Amino acid sequence: MTPMLSARGLSKRYERGGQVVNALDDVSLDVPPGDFLALMGPSGSGKSTLLNIAAGIDEPTAGTCVVDGRDVQAMRSGERDAWRTRTIGYIFQFYNLIPTLTAAENVELPLLLLPLSTRERREHVAAALELVGLSDRLHHTPAQLSGGQQQRVAVARALVTDARLLLCDEPTGNLDATSEQEVMHLLRRLVDEHGKTVILVTHDPTAAAHATRRLRLEKGKLVAAMEASA
Ligand SMILES: Nc1ncnc2c1ncn2[C@@H]1O[C@H](COP(=O)(O)OP(=O)(O)O)[C@@H](O)[C@H]1O
Ligand SMILES: [Mg+2]
Repeated sequence: MTPMLSARGLSKRYERGGQVVNALDDVSLDVPPGDFLALMGPSGSGKSTLLNIAAGIDEPTAGTCVVDGRDVQAMRSGERDAWRTRTIGYIFQFYNLIPTLTAAENVELPLLLLPLSTRERREHVAAALELVGLSDRLHHTPAQLSGGQQQRVAVARALVTDARLLLCDEPTGNLDATSEQEVMHLLRRLVDEHGKTVILVTHDPTAAAHATRRLRLEKGKLVAAMEASA
C-alpha cells in the first residue's frame, strides 16, 4: 500500500551564532493510510518541525518527504498551497480560530481557496460541523464556545476540504480531561469511520493511548516506540 506519508533521511539544522541545533536528525518514517500515529517526545525534540515539513510549511535541510504521492518540497509554492488545502488539515493547541468570525465562518475559510459556489460551501460547512457535533453552534463566535467546542470547530475546519491527512500539534494541550476525551474520540472516529490518517503530536500519555501506535522523538531522532511509558 502506498504510504500516506513517507519521510526519508529528513534533517533540519539551525545555526545560531556558531551553535548548531539538529531539530530533526535523519528521520525516516512511513505512515500508511488509515494510521493513527502518536508522536511523543519532550519539548524541543522536533515534533512540530516534522509536521511543518510534512505540510510544506518548513523546508528540510536534507532528505525527502512524500505525502499522498507528492514530493512536498519539489512542488512550486503556488501548487503546494493548493495541494495543502486539499490534502492536509492542521489542528493546533490553541485552535487558531479567528475571534471575530462565527464557527461556520471559521470552518468556511479553507473553502474560499477552492472553486466552489456559495451553496456548496454552505453544505460542506454544515456537514463538517455536524460531524463534530456542533450543528447547534453555527453562529457562535469562539468566545461563546468552550475550549473543547473551539477545538471541535478547528477539527471541522481541518476536515471541510475533505483532507485525508490530519496533522494535530498537541490538540489537547489546552483542554480539560473531559474535552480531551471528546476530541480524542472524535479523532478516533475520523480514522475508523471516515478513513482519515492522523498524526497526533502530544506529550500526554492519556491522549496517546487513543492512537493505534506510538513513536518517540528525542533530540531530533526517531527512537523505538515506548509502550510502557510516555
Ligand atoms: N526558527 C528556528 N530557529 C532556530 N531554532 C529553531 C527554530 N525553530 C525550532 N528550533 C529548534 O529546533 C528544535 C525543535 O523544535 P520543535 O520542532 O518546535 O520541537 P517540539 O515541537 O518537539 O517542541 C528546538 O530545539 C528548537 O529550539
Ligand atoms: Mg511543538
